[in-house]
Amino acid sequence: MTIDWDAEAAEKAGYEHFMLKEMYEQPKTVADTAGPRIKKNDIVIEELGMTDEEILQVKKIHIVACGSAYHAGVSGKYVLEGMARIPVEVDLASEFRYRDPILEDGAMVIVISQSGETADSLAALREAKKRGFKVLGIVNVVGSSIAREADNVMYTWAGPEIAVATTKAYSAQLIALYLLAMKFARVRHTVTEEEFSEMLGDLRRLPDQIELLLNNKNRIQRFANRYIAAKEVFFIGRGIDYAISMEGSLKLKEISYIHSEAYAAGELKHGTISLIEEGTLVAAVATQPALFQKTISNMVEVKARGAFVLAVTCEGNREIEKAADYVIYIPITNRFFTNSLAIIPLQLFSYYVAVGKGCDVDKPRNLAKSVTVE
Ligand code: AGP
Repeated sequence: MTIDWDAEAAEKAGYEHFMLKEMYEQPKTVADTAGPRIKKNDIVIEELGMTDEEILQVKKIHIVACGSAYHAGVSGKYVLEGMARIPVEVDLASEFRYRDPILEDGAMVIVISQSGETADSLAALREAKKRGFKVLGIVNVVGSSIAREADNVMYTWAGPEIAVATTKAYSAQLIALYLLAMKFARVRHTVTEEEFSEMLGDLRRLPDQIELLLNNKNRIQRFANRYIAAKEVFFIGRGIDYAISMEGSLKLKEISYIHSEAYAAGELKHGTISLIEEGTLVAAVATQPALFQKTISNMVEVKARGAFVLAVTCEGNREIEKAADYVIYIPITNRFFTNSLAIIPLQLFSYYVAVGKGCDVDKPRNLAKSVTVE
């Protein structure tokens, strides 16, 4: 099998860190992952290995992964359930492999992995296959163990990802899940032709919108410099915004070593809000129209207890400025695709906090790029 990665692609290309370079490769990664699978205004995923009839037979999807790939899976749950109306269960691979999972007839298993070598994810794949279920791999490294052992593989064409903290591969995983959801939704007629056509347009616009957000880095760097000494940061959101909060929180933890927690915004008052003190930074993601007012009320709750609220929301939602201390606006896109945009300022924020702290951004302490052991 010829893997056409050249040595140059694995160099920093003038960026200070691989992580920054890879963040800036995200527009291309998103275009490379989506482009070949959009044909004649339809989604064509040949590597899926499923006919429309087989897609109609799918009764439930189990997504299994670790770390950021798991967070992509959580986003995938909201997108697949919202768009294709298929029940989705997302498991941490290290839990799935030991909990004697119940896989019912008509279940489909998806294992997401950038490296394709994560021990827990590979073990989960083998567990599912042992029970007679087909596995679709969403993998970045061509020819990796998970890619080889999955029944079908949908590659995320992100190229070599060197930084331990994933950025471009995670973004490509989101795209792969959007494509799957759109394919399933069209086959199952859970979206109208007009909605589908609009989604295609929104998908095609994502690379340029990501580019726009990346160019906003100076403003985010200035904001990040205010939090280099932070001891604790909270990321909150509802639905898809909760999923992206998980990834935003992990990015900050793994490269800046600042403790952080992602929380479903509606769950804060059930205990965790007691941790909010004067000046605690709370990043609130509010991109979902139906949940916008609810998240604003959560922002008011934490502000009343002294929090400094950073809000990430869609352009035009000016009302949020009454509840936030600092707002980052993302371009308007389909409500199912906002994670691809909201993650950009969160990646930049974590990166600049870590750089400001003098951390080893590409090789954070205690971490490996691929966790090939339990
Ligand atoms: C992501 O920034 C981390 N490096 C880590 O959580 C990673 O996503 C996880 O270990 C899964 O790796 P994989 O995608 O290669 O399976």
